[in-house]
Amino acid sequence: MAFIEVNDGTSLKNVQVVVEKGEGSDYKEPRVGTSIKVTGNAVEGRNNTVEINTTPDGITVFGDAPTDYPLQKKGCSLEFLRSIPHLRGRTNTFNAVWRVRSVLAAALHEFFQSNNYVYVNTPLITGSDCEGAGEMFQVTTNGYTTEFKSEEEYYANDFFGKKAGLSVSGQLEGEMAAMAMGKIYTFGPSFRAENSNTPKHLAEFWHIEPEVAFAELDDVIEIAEDMLKFVIGKLLEKCPDEIAFFDAHFEKGLKARLEELISHEFGRVTYTEAIKLLQESGEKFVYPVEWGCDLQTEHERYISEKVFKKAVFVTDYPKEIKSFYMKQNPDGKTVAAVDLLVPGVGEIIGGSEREYDYDKLIAAMKERNMNLDLYSDYLDLRKFGSVPHGGFGLGFERLIMYTTGMANIRDVILFPRTVGSIR
Ligand code: 4AD
Repeated sequence: MAFIEVNDGTSLKNVQVVVEKGEGSDYKEPRVGTSIKVTGNAVEGRNNTVEINTTPDGITVFGDAPTDYPLQKKGCSLEFLRSIPHLRGRTNTFNAVWRVRSVLAAALHEFFQSNNYVYVNTPLITGSDCEGAGEMFQVTTNGYTTEFKSEEEYYANDFFGKKAGLSVSGQLEGEMAAMAMGKIYTFGPSFRAENSNTPKHLAEFWHIEPEVAFAELDDVIEIAEDMLKFVIGKLLEKCPDEIAFFDAHFEKGLKARLEELISHEFGRVTYTEAIKLLQESGEKFVYPVEWGCDLQTEHERYISEKVFKKAVFVTDYPKEIKSFYMKQNPDGKTVAAVDLLVPGVGEIIGGSEREYDYDKLIAAMKERNMNLDLYSDYLDLRKFGSVPHGGFGLGFERLIMYTTGMANIRDVILFPRTVGSIR
């Protein structure tokens, strides 16, 4: 008898093949990674499994795998697997991650579709910067040349006749669609040329951005909480084996944590209160905490892991550290922004109510020295029947990290693009 564990990638469970070799057979055991076709009798195996009984004649080899096939042994490190992105999907870990990714994507569409949101596709190449943090990749067809005398001349001769880049967010166009259709969402890639080599930043990530007319900050928060509870509920229902696998191998208690998340209200705190909590914590943070500072991952994790021990919305950030489009609060210091922080990851959602007053928006843009000409379409929204509205952006990979317990964002996307790394 010989035994072969076969897996066609559709499940974490293998099918066992029992080969009756017979007397004096020259049966050669297929090596790890070989692709085979098996013909035989399906019988009931142990623990409600199916086994296939066959003989050497019932096995056809499609593709042999030589001994240098990199996935020889169980328990390869995630770092090693990152060096073979084209093969790592064949491991149980990545098979489970990709399956969770697919189920979450479908659940997100289901949530928005069943609530009458219109799915729109916003452009990936853009002439304006949504977040204004100087993180745009440039798009150009002009190679190196000394032909142009100035920057203006260079861009004027480029493909679009002006400077273009890869979009960091579909929000600005999403707002335009929401002003036409009421409730919209996008689900596509965003690009950030952030030079931050961290476990939670990608240069190309997938972004879900709902935008809703007549919505204020509380509505935005409610939509975000409902959405997360819905998609995580679907995940628990549709991927019990995968969640059990991550619970056993990556984060003990993951299933209980997700179940708890969907059955309790998320926490809520203002930025100003959060700063106080951090200052009074007695913790030694690498980055100092004072009103006006940007919350770093260590601060975000302290708030969600130690203070609230659950997902928490932080609202009303200082206007200086947030984007130009956010609604200015009456205090003159803060904006109606919201970030959702979760244990283990930190920020997974960033959103806001939008400034819909033309003059206030112009003033905020001027304070930031923005070129208003590039935003004329966006500004028109405030001229022609402006209404309160808001939305948020969910980083899809950060959601997958949170729901699988995978600690590095490079391990939740098929082919990660990060600073200094592309293939
Ligand atoms: O907070 P951000 O920058 O917000 C926006 O882009 C808004 N325009 C969204 C909106 O209101 N429509 O990004 C939103 C989310 C973050 O919370 C994070 O989850 C994810 O996008 N994100 C990234 N994920 C992976 N790698 C990066 N470099 C990311 N930058 C942002």
